[in-house]
Amino acid sequence: MGKTTTVFNLGAVLAARGVRTLLVDLDPQAALTAWAGFDTGRLKQTMYSVLMDGADTLAPIVLRAADNLMLAPASLDLASAEVALGSAPDRAQRLQRALQSSETAQYDIVLVDTPATLGVLTVNGLVAAHQLLIPVQCEALSMRGVRAVLEAVWLVRGRLNHGLELLGVLPTVFRAEVPGAQAALAEMQSVFRNWVLAPIPADDVAVTGASASSAPLLRHAPGSAAAQAYLRLAEFVTNEQRTS
Ligand SMILES: Nc1ncnc2c1ncn2[C@@H]1O[C@H](COP(=O)(O)OP(=O)(O)OP(=O)(O)O)[C@@H](O)[C@H]1O
Ligand SMILES: [Mg+2]
Repeated sequence: MGKTTTVFNLGAVLAARGVRTLLVDLDPQAALTAWAGFDTGRLKQTMYSVLMDGADTLAPIVLRAADNLMLAPASLDLASAEVALGSAPDRAQRLQRALQSSETAQYDIVLVDTPATLGVLTVNGLVAAHQLLIPVQCEALSMRGVRAVLEAVWLVRGRLNHGLELLGVLPTVFRAEVPGAQAALAEMQSVFRNWVLAPIPADDVAVTGASASSAPLLRHAPGSAAAQAYLRLAEFVTNEQRTS
């Protein structure tokens, strides 16, 4: 949990720092597209057409969300792409193909938001990616989910994307005052050790308010602990990009 919140707010911080950022929304629920300020019902071309047509560029669908912040939007019909892509031999490589276009060079970083399920949409994200950031809600049951996700990820890595690296495990919606949250964080650290990044604190008012007003935390609640945590995450990601 916290994927969409992380993609949008990390992207917004990077863009504000002059990093040319492309966000890709692969979730039929299109929460990222909505947070970026677009009405998915009105969009004619979205990731649906890119995936279904096997397009070799994202250019026709890309929207401008803010300075340095571009978005390849999602729409509800992406849900049917899961089925419609069926057994097409290149069904898992459609996003990778579109990102291989020369136009992608105009971005310094591409952040892909995936759905909660491990279907063909998520696999497209995993195949196209160089690095994987796994947001995990700080709750007792989350760790089981992470193990399942990692097993699937290593399967994809072994078969379809040998270069995929783990960037980190990001504890999200962290409520320091809740004992269960502390225990979940401790468990994450004991399993994933140095991969565990600094937690993103819970801030219901700031996060809900920012998404309802289609603004990043950085603008809606710049002083909030969650906004500050995304600033630090952006610093970490920028440093990792420099060294990799
Ligand atoms: N730091 C936070 N503090 C408080 N609420 C948060 C925080 N981060 C995320 N949330 C809330 O938790 C919910 C899930 O977050 P988000 O949409 O980012 O998760 P997701 O992983 O994208 O979920 P899905 O799998 O449904 O796409 C949202 O209602 C969001 O507002
Ligand atoms: Mg989401």
